[in-house]
Amino acid sequence: MVEISTSVLSVKEEEAVKTFYNLETAKTDYFHIDVMDGKFVKQNTIEKMQTYTNVIKQISNLPLDVHLMVEDVEANIDAYLPYEPNLITFHIEACKDKQEVLKHIQYIKENNAKVGIAIKPNTSIEEIYEYLPLIHLVLVMTVEPGYGGQKLIPETIQKVKQLREYINENNLQIDIEVDGGINIENKEELKHTGANILVVGSAIINSDNYKDTIKKIKETI
Ligand code: DX5
Ligand code: ZN
Repeated sequence: MVEISTSVLSVKEEEAVKTFYNLETAKTDYFHIDVMDGKFVKQNTIEKMQTYTNVIKQISNLPLDVHLMVEDVEANIDAYLPYEPNLITFHIEACKDKQEVLKHIQYIKENNAKVGIAIKPNTSIEEIYEYLPLIHLVLVMTVEPGYGGQKLIPETIQKVKQLREYINENNLQIDIEVDGGINIENKEELKHTGANILVVGSAIINSDNYKDTIKKIKETI
C-alpha cells in the first residue's frame, strides 16, 4: 500500500488550520512542505511554509516531509531542524559537487532526520546512484519544480521503474517518492512502478472530500 504525503503548497492561508486538521482526519500519512526560495525556482514560499509548519506542529503529530527547492540547502536545513522533520529532501541540482551532497547527507542524518535526494525531470536517475547506500529516499519529480497544479510528465514514470529495479538489484532499502501532478485519473500510470510514497497537492486540496480522494488514490497502487 502506498503512502500519501499531502503537499500544503495549495492550501489557502485563511483556511490553513481547518485544512490541516481535516487532512489529518482524512488520514494523510505526511504533510509535504514545499520550500521554495525564489532562486532555485521562481516562487518564494519561505515565509508561507514556515507559517504552515508552525501551525501544523501545534495541531498535529503527523510526520513532516520537507522538500527543499532552494539554492542554499544548509541554511534551509537549519531553518527546519527545530520542527524535528521526519524527512528532509534536497535537490541534487542545487549542489555544486559530490562533497556538498555528502555534506548535506551527513548533516541531516546527524540531526536525526531521514535524508532524501530529489531529482528534476531532466536529471538522469544514474546521477544519484552513488548516493543510494547513504540515503533513505529518492524524490522523483514528475513535474518541473516550482508550482502546484501542473500535469504529470509521462516520461518521468520510466525513471521510477528504472530506479526501483536498480534498488532491488542492489538489495537496498530505499523509498521512492513521486511528486507533482498526481491524481485519481493518472494513478494507473503509477501502478507497479515501485513508487511507495505519492505526493499529492491540488488533487486533494481542491477536492470536496479529502478522505475519499486519499482513499481512492491509495487503494489503486
Ligand atoms: C512542486 C512541488 C509539488 C507540488 C505538488 O514544485 O514540489 O510538491 O506542490 O502539487 P500538485 O499535486 O498540485 O502537483
Ligand atoms: Zn514537493
